[in-house]
Amino acid sequence: MVFDKVAHKQRMQWFTEARYGMFIHWGLYAIPARGEWYRGSQRVPTEQYMKYFEEFNPTGYDPKAWAKAAKDAGMKYAVLTAKHHDGFCLFDSKLTDFKATNTPAGRDLIKEYVEAFRAEGLGVGIYYSIIDWNHPHYPHYNDPIHPRRLDPEYENHQYDFNVYLDYMHGQVREICTNYGKIDILWFDYSYDNLKGEAWRATELIKMVRELQPNVIIDNRLEGTAESSLKTKTPHYFSGDFISPEQLLPPRGMFDEDGNRIPWEACITLNDNWGYAAGNHTGGNYKPPSTVIKKLVECVSKDGNLLLNVGPDAKGRIPWESLEIIADVGRWLSYNGESIYNCTLSELPKPEWGRLTQNGKKLYLHVMEPMIGFIPLEGVSRDQIEKIRLLSDGREMRIVSDWKTVHYNDITFIDTGNSHKLPCDVNTVIEVTLK
Ligand code: GLC
Repeated sequence: MVFDKVAHKQRMQWFTEARYGMFIHWGLYAIPARGEWYRGSQRVPTEQYMKYFEEFNPTGYDPKAWAKAAKDAGMKYAVLTAKHHDGFCLFDSKLTDFKATNTPAGRDLIKEYVEAFRAEGLGVGIYYSIIDWNHPHYPHYNDPIHPRRLDPEYENHQYDFNVYLDYMHGQVREICTNYGKIDILWFDYSYDNLKGEAWRATELIKMVRELQPNVIIDNRLEGTAESSLKTKTPHYFSGDFISPEQLLPPRGMFDEDGNRIPWEACITLNDNWGYAAGNHTGGNYKPPSTVIKKLVECVSKDGNLLLNVGPDAKGRIPWESLEIIADVGRWLSYNGESIYNCTLSELPKPEWGRLTQNGKKLYLHVMEPMIGFIPLEGVSRDQIEKIRLLSDGREMRIVSDWKTVHYNDITFIDTGNSHKLPCDVNTVIEVTLK
């Protein structure tokens, strides 16, 4: 099986135009409220974790409200955890009892999510953990992260990994069969020797591509940071994009021939993916200004931003998160043309901020207060058709006076004010090139 570069390019188009999505980590771990790794990091005994299973009753779960919040925030797609490492399934899998259907919630929560996000016209993504801390045939004692990794009673734990893989493949089949068209399948994650064909990756991807020919898949069957997309001959199971986590790649991402590789940075809004409260650093939120600047940074390097929210045990997105993303959404409602459908500019990164580009439209993201005029390097005045402030369409003029006369290779733009920019977070100036 070979990686089809033409099909890859085609299926990636909507994704690289969309640029901004919502990651949603939600499951039983919202009850202990210490992030989604709680079962593993705290080595929680099974009986204790099962209490959350018996209790899970998210009476505030309203995926239509989630979808509306995402849409108003300017996000174009979402990715929700159908199963995280703890093994709990939000979907009605026929292959396990450890699922939302058997909790007081009593129903398939993924189905409602898919329908609600689709109804808002958003791309629908499903996160699926290929790791499983609940399955008897997943490695326990010798595994570096499993909740039972240090329990001597599991030292001789007998397991047949193929039984687990059959289960995992079967669940992926269910996800790809029972919910109509899925736009993104987000596998998480490979580690140590558990990567690539250890997951029976070719077989898995072959099935996925048969069931969902246009689905976009992340790179994590291969690894988290590494990817054969960087090579001349990607593996059949390499996936479609690289998923840097809590990091914006310093120079963007290119293969060994210098071609761009699609990437999506996944970033938390506070210090956790799953719901965290109190001193578990659930309160350390990034302000809207940071999110705006980091979204621009992604696009200026030809990447996407997948920004996480972690709904609580009642099923509600924390109001702090809603406020932050709504603020960013307001900025996008005035400046979205500089983000969607945009990519990097070949011009050098300016001192005052960043550049994005969509064909003849060059967007100057001015993030620093200026003294006088804004210098634009690499574009001469006769290459420019017009310059406007993106948010309100006002004209901005090219200036030359005694102060600029010694910089013939730089175009200076007059903002109409000696030092104050219209938006102190990020003022976007649209330069239309001839
Ligand atoms: C990880 C973590 C995880 C989170 C994910 C998001 O690798 O295991 O909890 O879901 O990254 O990228």
